[in-house]
Amino acid sequence: MKTLVLVFHPSLKGQSHVNAALAEAAEGMENVTVRDEYALYPDGKIDVKAEQAAVEAADRVVFQFPLYWFSSPALLKTWEDDVLEHGWAYGSEGHAFEGKEFGVAVSTGSPESKYQPEGDNKFKIEQVLVPFQGTANHINATWIKPFVTFGSFGISDEALAESVKNYKDYLTK
Ligand SMILES: Cc1cc2nc3c(=O)[nH]c(=O)nc-3n(C[C@H](O)[C@H](O)[C@H](O)COP(=O)(O)O)c2cc1C
Repeated sequence: MKTLVLVFHPSLKGQSHVNAALAEAAEGMENVTVRDEYALYPDGKIDVKAEQAAVEAADRVVFQFPLYWFSSPALLKTWEDDVLEHGWAYGSEGHAFEGKEFGVAVSTGSPESKYQPEGDNKFKIEQVLVPFQGTANHINATWIKPFVTFGSFGISDEALAESVKNYKDYLTK
């Protein structure tokens, strides 16, 4: 299975700790293609045809990003708005994602204990990620379980190594 990982981090090669480690691990994998979207489009202007071609060549698409304000970094929203065109991704002629798996790999600052009904954030991470699941449904992709790295602030080397290992398994499955 060919997997396309679209990474949306404003500073993947600079300030990122968690997503940089995950992306680096993914880059070294067979049958996995990684695209650093902020590096490709520093002016925010997405090459729609290039992105659509990358999706078409894959069997599984994963959006990888740090959670920003219970959502994604802004370029991911622009990517969805621009690339998921009517007649390509949805609508009677839009079948680009049919038969493909679609998921997200997200890192959070808060620990998992805060992503509980009784925790500070009140919602479980699956609830926070519902807009992505809804998008998967709308484009007729097969939604796969999200990959989550909780508690990125001050994450230990051991915990990050564990997450990297689990991410490789996630992308291999
Ligand atoms: C603008 C901004 C908004 C953020 N919003 C959230 C949030 O809503 N929930 C959360 O758990 N962490 C939040 N964080 C923390 C990031 O998710 C965390 O720093 C990131 O996952 C770490 O990954 P990195 O090492 O690849 O940068 C936010 C960080 C920034 C810069």
